[in-house]
Amino acid sequence: MGLRTICDHILDIAQNAVDSGTKNAELKIQEKRGYSFSFSVLDWGKGIPSELLETVLDPFYTEKRKKVKFGLGLPMLKFAAETTGGRFNICSKSGAGTEITASFLLSSVDCQPVGDIPSTLFAVITMSDDVDWTVERVLDEDGYTFSSSQFREALGNDCFTFPVKMKIILEILQEAEISLGGLSNVY
Ligand SMILES: Nc1ncnc2c1ncn2[C@@H]1O[C@H](COP(=O)(O)OP(=O)(O)OP(=O)(O)O)[C@@H](O)[C@H]1O
Ligand SMILES: [Mg+2]
Repeated sequence: MGLRTICDHILDIAQNAVDSGTKNAELKIQEKRGYSFSFSVLDWGKGIPSELLETVLDPFYTEKRKKVKFGLGLPMLKFAAETTGGRFNICSKSGAGTEITASFLLSSVDCQPVGDIPSTLFAVITMSDDVDWTVERVLDEDGYTFSSSQFREALGNDCFTFPVKMKIILEILQEAEISLGGLSNVY
């Protein structure tokens, strides 16, 4: 199993944010159709100590207790972004939080498909009941934003676990993406 799409990377980095113990997190996606795709994930979790900032880009480093001990999320994202001519950056402070940003040049032959944005945003906000997400999605000049708390206020606190409400949320996200003319991205 690999990270086949850019959206797979977003899920992986969002999971890192959830694992950081943060209460709030932000995901921003900015796309220039046919030209570039960038995203950033910001959290206020435990952060990465400065002496480990290089180490976390080593595929054989992970703090998770795994049978096979390696953490591939960050090194694979760095590789995937930079091979397209894009950029990758980590800004982190121990005890304060972390921001990961990555950009991809969509015109590169090495660029992965973007993937399914609404399903990815849905997976991010339903990943953990303990994290409140703010999400911003921009495509060319248009965009939309939403937060976990807006959905909780509108649909109730069980909206990320109650199937009928979850379906409504996914449909809202799909509609938002259609209104941007963005669903043509799904490969
Ligand atoms: N947002 C974050 N806050 C704090 N530490 C982080 C964050 N993101 C990554 N790290 C640290 O970097 C390590 C490597 O992250 P990476 O995503 O590459 O692998 P992993 O999460 O350990 O494993 P995998 O993603 O393969 O399940 C993590 O184990 C963690 O110690
Ligand atoms: Mg990870």
